[in-house]
Amino acid sequence: MDKIRIGVVGLGKRGRTWLKTLQAIDTYEITAICDHIEPLVQEATTLLKEPEKAGCFTDFYEMLEKAPIDAVGVVAEPNAQVKLACESMNAGKHVVCEVPLSYRYQDYWDLVVAVEKSNVKFQMAEQARYRKFIQATRKMAEQGMLGKILYAEGEYLAYYGSCYCFRDSKTGKYLTSEEAKSNPNAVSSDRSSEHPIAYIPHELSPLLSVIKDRVVTVSCMGTKFGSYTDPAVPRRDFEVAIMHTANDTLIRILNGFTTPTPGHPTSHWYQIIGTEGSVEWKRAKWDQAKMWLKNAQMPDWAGVNWDDDVRASNIEHGGRDPFPLIDFAEAIKEDRKPEIDIYTAIEACVPGIVATMSVEKGGRVLSIPDFRPGPNRKKGEYPLDGEPKEV
Ligand SMILES: NC(=O)c1ccc[n+]([C@@H]2O[C@H](COP(=O)([O-])OP(=O)(O)OC[C@H]3O[C@@H](n4cnc5c(N)ncnc54)[C@H](O)[C@@H]3O)[C@@H](O)[C@H]2O)c1
Repeated sequence: MDKIRIGVVGLGKRGRTWLKTLQAIDTYEITAICDHIEPLVQEATTLLKEPEKAGCFTDFYEMLEKAPIDAVGVVAEPNAQVKLACESMNAGKHVVCEVPLSYRYQDYWDLVVAVEKSNVKFQMAEQARYRKFIQATRKMAEQGMLGKILYAEGEYLAYYGSCYCFRDSKTGKYLTSEEAKSNPNAVSSDRSSEHPIAYIPHELSPLLSVIKDRVVTVSCMGTKFGSYTDPAVPRRDFEVAIMHTANDTLIRILNGFTTPTPGHPTSHWYQIIGTEGSVEWKRAKWDQAKMWLKNAQMPDWAGVNWDDDVRASNIEHGGRDPFPLIDFAEAIKEDRKPEIDIYTAIEACVPGIVATMSVEKGGRVLSIPDFRPGPNRKKGEYPLDGEPKEV
């Protein structure tokens, strides 16, 4: 296979970013684009360097049937993604899918079973684990420099206001709560969840890649439904989850998207504490990442420059967006496991979904089922009971 012919389904803001990113990677050729909102397809064609090579579709099944594609990039609202991914794999296409894979718990069982039954590659396109800070921390952990990791935490605090809550069903444009009131085509959108903790992969994926573990229990609390900043926004402002891993590490994740913050590039923050040392990401643009090692004669934290290299000026998220797509292409070409395979992906998403159930139960501790095959579940089969339980 010379180039990977990819069809992108979902041409909202993120899907259009994907088109730019994919065109910056030599391995890909975009041979189809699809969105059921026609104006978005038209807009997307203007971003293609070779539009004549890409079929334009408003019907996903038509794209699967007619377009010459090896792989599908799924970039839709989270609750639409699993169906699109499963149908693509059933049709023999490799799948790379955006985060979070879904906000619905049952979708994860449907997806794992579909991947296991298929003969194709599946990768989640989570890019925060490719941060230079995370890569450096992962290396330190692998070399034992941090000792036994006892605690890891992450925060995603950004301000999206009422964006992602309401959209114009004809144009696909997102609307503010004010605009939605006067727009007859306004519909509520599940692009974001009522529960900010459901959007957990950018914290859990990097942290779990360092501690190489999986979450087994979670408890989560949230502020009331309806934002304090704009009561018309049907979201909870903050949710904080406390988790325990199989190998006895505690994890705390705080997420909130409806309260004003200083914003990028510090809207994501991480800290990892081990018995031999600690690292933490910077708090402000003028700040630095920090590192401390017990046996290195360090009376204080040392500042470290672990900022990302911005590889291409038009690539978002500090130049990290291409990494999961490059890895996916290599996994196909080399017929190997992708970096963020189905189990790694699920382990970075599902604790956030179970955390939302904990919020609904006033913070009760819930178990996180193991999605890997084992004595209780054969590959390609559903478990007899795959539900989280109160602990
Ligand atoms: N990795 C990241 O940093 C990052 C950043 C932003 C968004 N995302 C994720 O990317 C995805 C898309 O985000 P977005 O902001 O572009 O959302 P969006 O709502 O603007 O776009 C999603 C598009 O998918 C289309 N779609 C849904 N179901 C479809 C179907 N069956 N057939 C054809 N088209 C369909 C919708 O019409 C919509 O235009 C989400 O899962 C989001 O969580 C990830």
